[in-house]
Amino acid sequence: MDNIFPIYDRMMSRADKESLLHQRGMMIWFTGLSGSGKSTIAIGVERELHQRGLLCRILDGDNIRSGINAGLGFSAEDRRENIRRIAEVGKLFVDTGIITLAAFVSPTNEYRTMARDIIGAEDFFEVYVSTPLEECERRDVKGLYARARRGEVKDFTGISAPFEVPEHPALSIDTSKQPLEQSVKQVVDLVLSQHV
Ligand code: ADX
Repeated sequence: MDNIFPIYDRMMSRADKESLLHQRGMMIWFTGLSGSGKSTIAIGVERELHQRGLLCRILDGDNIRSGINAGLGFSAEDRRENIRRIAEVGKLFVDTGIITLAAFVSPTNEYRTMARDIIGAEDFFEVYVSTPLEECERRDVKGLYARARRGEVKDFTGISAPFEVPEHPALSIDTSKQPLEQSVKQVVDLVLSQHV
């Protein structure tokens, strides 16, 4: 950090931005297996909150792994770096007063704790999308489970790489047990409960 001179004392503050937007910045951190429904729920939540005049930003594989994290794979080391960068970028959005929805497998307690520590526990709400492996594999939207079973994709979460169930999520949602609208509503209610 040598030769880096903070300008935070001269920039507009987070509180200034939150009062401009009339909302509170926060991170909704979705975790769960590939195909569990994380991004689908996040998209529904964004639409619903946008209609209510609340500004959101979704971070997911499409805009992160193809951009800022394009060079990263799925080793434990790369996944940790993936999550670290997502958390740092997410923090910038949260500090701008934006309701930020991150949809990443983030398979271990260690990675999720790191994300929470970077973002700050008071702004971090973990949503575990607990759809069982059998259902994710049955959906196999991207065909990756079949390829992983054939050994063509290595270190695949749930098949040949671990997924640790979160210990104390703010919310647990099994998309095989309820319609999308209900899952979206649960997350929207969580966000709105922070805005009273
Ligand atoms: S994380 O483990 O680093 O958090 P991330 O959410 O960014 O994972 O990416 C997971 C997505 O990448 C999956 O939904 C799937 O489409 C794809 N993918 C490709 N290879 C793997 C793999 N080996 N394990 C898990 N997901 C993979």
